[in-house]
Amino acid sequence: MTHSIDHLLQEVLIDEQTLKARVAELGAQISRDYANSDNLLLICILKGGVMFLTDLMRYISVPHEIDFLSVSSYGKGARMSTGSVRIDMDLKSVVIGKDLLIVEDIIDSGHTLQFVMEVMSARKPASVRLCTLLDKPSRRTIDIPIDYTGFVIEDKFVFGYGLDLDEKYRNLPFIGVVNPGAVGSE
Ligand code: IMP
Ligand code: MG
Repeated sequence: MTHSIDHLLQEVLIDEQTLKARVAELGAQISRDYANSDNLLLICILKGGVMFLTDLMRYISVPHEIDFLSVSSYGKGARMSTGSVRIDMDLKSVVIGKDLLIVEDIIDSGHTLQFVMEVMSARKPASVRLCTLLDKPSRRTIDIPIDYTGFVIEDKFVFGYGLDLDEKYRNLPFIGVVNPGAVGSE
């Protein structure tokens, strides 16, 4: 059996080298900005943020902790989030007094991150900032201040490098655009 993704992939939007170079830049910038922090906690939003987190943390020279938060939005199908978001798996860490940096794969409507920012802020951290690999501003319905952005992209459904296509292909080392003809619309 072959597992070619050629029929699913319309184009490679961001290749491996470009991702690596940008992630390194973000890590360097974060390291400068948190140089005086001794309480940095990176919070990875599962599952999509996982590859970004593990690459990004290699480029953060400030000592830090990591933790994982799994949230899901539901209502209209996987490709369209609504206002309903819930925590599926909470952090293990105590957040009070820490400098939180939320690490997310993509900000689309903004619903998921609005919820995450509200929940985290309520736990009395010293600070909360947001780092997203991808930003799709054309789809935003809620204004979310983003502190660190990898790439701003157009309104196309993308996958790879942590982002899934029906839960698969998170392992691809690049960000690809889905061939709209190859997947069912929701
Ligand atoms: P939001 O609540 O609409 O901002 O949704 C953000 C979530 O939707 C992300 O964490 C992703 O899991 C998912 N998502 C949005 N756009 C894409 C995409 O192009 N590819 C894969 N997942 C996406
Ligand atoms: Mg997803």
